[in-house]
Amino acid sequence: MIGIISAMHDELAELLEILQDKKTINLGNRTYYTGNITNQKVVIVFSKWGKVAAAITTTELISRFHVSQIIFSGVAGAINPQLNIGDIVYGTSLIQHDMDASPLFPKFEIPLLGKSTIKTTDDDKLLDCVQEFNQQYYDYISPKEAQQFNIDKPKVIKGLIASGDEFINSDIKLKQLQNDIPNLQCVEMEGAAVAQVCEEYKIPFSIIRIISDKADHSAHIDFPAFTKLVASKYAKGILENYCS
Ligand code: ADE
Repeated sequence: MIGIISAMHDELAELLEILQDKKTINLGNRTYYTGNITNQKVVIVFSKWGKVAAAITTTELISRFHVSQIIFSGVAGAINPQLNIGDIVYGTSLIQHDMDASPLFPKFEIPLLGKSTIKTTDDDKLLDCVQEFNQQYYDYISPKEAQQFNIDKPKVIKGLIASGDEFINSDIKLKQLQNDIPNLQCVEMEGAAVAQVCEEYKIPFSIIRIISDKADHSAHIDFPAFTKLVASKYAKGILENYCS
């Protein structure tokens, strides 16, 4: 069984609509939806926002649902200036940008885990599904929707994703992240927590992030509009293919 997580309902709404044999289980203030997508058994859940929420949900998926793998799909703010709204970041490693136990441990290092970045699991099939989605973008996203967010030739970038319990929406914070963490692609609030739990329980995991905003002064306007209108079309397009 594959565990599929998003922070919000809006990010997975369309995937939930194609879930067959749906059953719901309520645990710890979250609803876990089990069922099948094509012939693949899945459990879908909205973790809610932030690293603690994501860690609770990930641990529950591993210890109660015995998932063999976890995929997180959601939105993120761009840190790499070449990324635009609508682009996809396929995470290769995760870092907690708000972890700082210096001088006892180097900045960003997770104390007693001995590392600051955690690598995702190589999954060529998932990467192929992401790239296929992007190549057939306008089968999934209408030209009108793309135009609304100035999306033109969206791209897929593989790379480092940062998470922290902070919504980044200022040019100062954006610059700080660009300076502090070389090669950082995007910022969100859950992925690195999923990574830490999966690393410690030795469960394969992947993080896919769609750029909803540029983590700048207009992030709080772009983020909700994008998330509500198009984010879950990505998750459905990519993960329906992956499960078949
Ligand atoms: N998720 C989407 N956009 C974000 C931002 N700007 N900061 C943190 N998390 C986000």
